[in-house]
Amino acid sequence: MANVTVIGAQWGDEGKGKIVDWLASRADAVVRFQGGHNAGHTLVVGNEVYKLSLLPSGIVRGTLSIIGNGVVLDPWALKAEIEKLTGQGVTIHSENFAIADNCPLILPLHRDLDGLREGAAGAGKIGTTGRGIGPAYEDKVGRRAIRVCDLAHLDALDSQLDRLCAHHDALRAGFGQPPVDRAALIEELREIAPFVLQFAQPVWKRLKKVRKAGARILFEGAQGVLLDVDHGTYPFVTSSNTVSGTAASGSGLGPNSTGFVLGIVKAYTTRVGSGPFPTELEDETGQKLGERGHEFGTVTGRKRRCGWFDAVLVRQSCAISGVTGIALTKLDVLDGFDKVRICTGYRLRGSDGVVKVLDYFPSHSADQASVEPIYEEMDGWKDTTAGARSWADLPAQAIKYIQRVQELIETPVALVSTSPEREDTILVRDPFVD
Ligand code: IMP
Repeated sequence: MANVTVIGAQWGDEGKGKIVDWLASRADAVVRFQGGHNAGHTLVVGNEVYKLSLLPSGIVRGTLSIIGNGVVLDPWALKAEIEKLTGQGVTIHSENFAIADNCPLILPLHRDLDGLREGAAGAGKIGTTGRGIGPAYEDKVGRRAIRVCDLAHLDALDSQLDRLCAHHDALRAGFGQPPVDRAALIEELREIAPFVLQFAQPVWKRLKKVRKAGARILFEGAQGVLLDVDHGTYPFVTSSNTVSGTAASGSGLGPNSTGFVLGIVKAYTTRVGSGPFPTELEDETGQKLGERGHEFGTVTGRKRRCGWFDAVLVRQSCAISGVTGIALTKLDVLDGFDKVRICTGYRLRGSDGVVKVLDYFPSHSADQASVEPIYEEMDGWKDTTAGARSWADLPAQAIKYIQRVQELIETPVALVSTSPEREDTILVRDPFVD
């Protein structure tokens, strides 16, 4: 049976929530494999709106939901999210929810450090979500993280805490902050441990069993490829690998289990936080895209930066993530524009003054910041695409736009989403029936 891996192919906020919910309703298990509670997935089921940051989207419908080892887990944020969902009538127990016992924890000291660094960085700040994501991943690769399994061994945590606190105390001193309050930290961990441990297990084992039984697994990516720590707009990225390959390493299943890779692509471009954005529009058009697309962050409420569709970036994301097909979202936001533009290449002036044309996004941050987009302009469409459920419902120019996008990104369109309603979707190819 086919599995599906969903990833964002831009800077996140591509509208993954609706697509993931639709796929989750047909999956037997949903797995988060990277990121943490920096993500914001909004699901609308009936009249109820669910806002998820950490829990896999399947949980709302009672589907087996798994947090893989590639995620960084804030136990207090987890508890708050579970309590909120329980209040909305969602049932969460160890039968339908599991957390990898080798998952690193986000601690209050990580949140502190995230805030201290951003506060001190001035104009050079990354614009993080302030959730402690980066510092927690640093401690994971620095081999000093406290992990979920450690919560069952709190009396034996001394030497680990020595290493962790030695590192953080030095950093905190640099910011004029007092050392970590170890006694308070242990106390907080002791208090939260039973709550987390009821869900903890070696999830690779559970997934192996689920897979053997022929279940359909949905791997739910967070953020987007352009925020990937290797392939994104470094250093203005998140601290995890957001590409499809992480679905395997971040869950404990092999790379042959990721199945159909569905790249979620917005019909224009947005970004929250700092960093290069070649097609950004700081004018009325950008304002109009933001207003029509309700472009405000789900997690932080920040206003998103908006711009035209960048085919160079999406082609690159699709190649890097091995995208099988894309889901094109929010096409209706472009309704009514006289002209629409697509970026098809960049001009970059080298240090020798010679201008080169690039068909890819360069790696160096100064080059990323100075490339100038080359646009192709197309006629827009007057009629609305909102709510379209078949090609016949779409204006001819909108179809031309989709076809041009598909051609330029060298990846087929698997579905087009035309409103937040689940039924308002044009299905070209079902990812689960690949
Ligand atoms: P962090 O993940 O909090 O460290 O933030 C690093 C960068 O990733 C910042 O530019 C954030 O705005 C961005 N980011 C993190 N999570 C999301 C998301 O879910 N959607 C869009 N941007 C995100």
